[in-house]
Amino acid sequence: MSLQGKRLVIFGCGYVGSALADAALAAGARVGTLTRNPEKAAALRAKGIEVVVADLAAADWHAQVAGGADFVVNCVSSGGSKNYRRSYVEGMKSILTWAARGPAPVGTLVYTSSTAVYPQGGGAVVEETAPAEGATPNGAIIRESEVLLQAAPAAAVRRHFILRLAGIYGPDRHHLLDQLREGRPVLGGSGEHRLNLVHRDDIVAAILACLTAPAAVGSGIFNVADTGPVARAEVVRWLADRLGRPVPGFDGATTTRRGGAPMPDRIISSVKIQRVLGWRPQYPDYRAGYEKLLSL
Ligand SMILES: NC(=O)c1ccc[n+]([C@@H]2O[C@H](COP(=O)([O-])OP(=O)(O)OC[C@H]3O[C@@H](n4cnc5c(N)ncnc54)[C@H](OP(=O)(O)O)[C@@H]3O)[C@@H](O)[C@H]2O)c1
Repeated sequence: MSLQGKRLVIFGCGYVGSALADAALAAGARVGTLTRNPEKAAALRAKGIEVVVADLAAADWHAQVAGGADFVVNCVSSGGSKNYRRSYVEGMKSILTWAARGPAPVGTLVYTSSTAVYPQGGGAVVEETAPAEGATPNGAIIRESEVLLQAAPAAAVRRHFILRLAGIYGPDRHHLLDQLREGRPVLGGSGEHRLNLVHRDDIVAAILACLTAPAAVGSGIFNVADTGPVARAEVVRWLADRLGRPVPGFDGATTTRRGGAPMPDRIISSVKIQRVLGWRPQYPDYRAGYEKLLSL
C-alpha cells in the first residue's frame, strides 16, 4: 500500500511528528495536524499541512478535523513537562472519542509509545511479550494510554500498532554528543548500563512500515530500537575519541531517568518488527548514527 493520496492526521508534530510529516508529504499524502502553538501552526501550514490550533485533550477540535482518516499517528509527548497524564492519557481518550464519531473508522492508527513501559533490568533481553507492569510512574501512564488504544472498538479504529521506542536521537537531538563537545570532565549518571537507542529517521521508517503494511498484518506491538546496544561508557569513549577529547568520567548518580528511577541495564529486542514488517534500521548502532551526526 502507498501513501499517495491518503489522508494522514498526525497528533504531536514535534521532533518525530515533523519528520514524519515531511516524509508523508514527499510520498504524496495529505497531512493534517494539531498544535497548541500558533507560530508553529504557521510554519507547518507553509509546508502544505492542514493545521488546527488546539489542545489535544480538549474536545473543541473534534469538529474541525475530519474523521475517517486513512491513517492516524499519535506521537504526542509531554515534552518534558509535568503534565504527563494530560498529554498521554487524556490525549489518547480524546483521539479515540473523535475516531468513534467519524463517518468511518480510522484505517490504521500508530501510537509511538516507549520502552519506559518495561520494568526489566539486570541485563534482560526485552521482547514485546515481556510484562509491562511495574515500570516507573511515567511508564505506567504511557502503558495506560496503550491499554486505551488496545480496547478501542473496531468501529473507531480498524487496526492499530503500538511502537515502543527506545531513546530517540538524531539531527538536533544528541545530548551525549553535546556534553562531550562542551568538554565536561564528568558526566552525570553511570556508564555501566546499556544504551538502547533509535535514530529519528528509523522511527519514521517504522511508522511508515506500519501504515503501509498489508491488511493481513493485524494490530500489534513492536519494539523499535537499533540492533547494537552497548554500555553508555563505550559510547562516551568512542565519541571522546572521535572528537579528540579526554574521556570523561561518571559521577555514579543513579537518578538519570525521567521520574528519578535508575537507568535499567537491558537489551531491547527489535527482532519482531524486522520479522513481521521487514523494518531494518538505517543506523543499526550508535557508530552509524553518530558518524552521520558528526558529519553534519
Ligand atoms: N524522547 C525519547 O527518547 C522517547 C523515547 C521513547 C518514546 N518517545 C515517544 O516518542 C514520541 C515522539 O516524541 P518527540 O520527542 O517527537 O516529542 P516532542 O518533540 O516533545 O513533541 C511532542 C509533541 O506533542 C505535542 N503535545 C503534547 N501535549 C499536547 C497536547 N495536550 N495537545 C496537543 N499537542 C500536544 C506537542 O505539541 P505542541 O507543543 O506543538 O502543541 C509536540 O509537538 C512521543 O510519543 C514520546 O512519548 C520518546
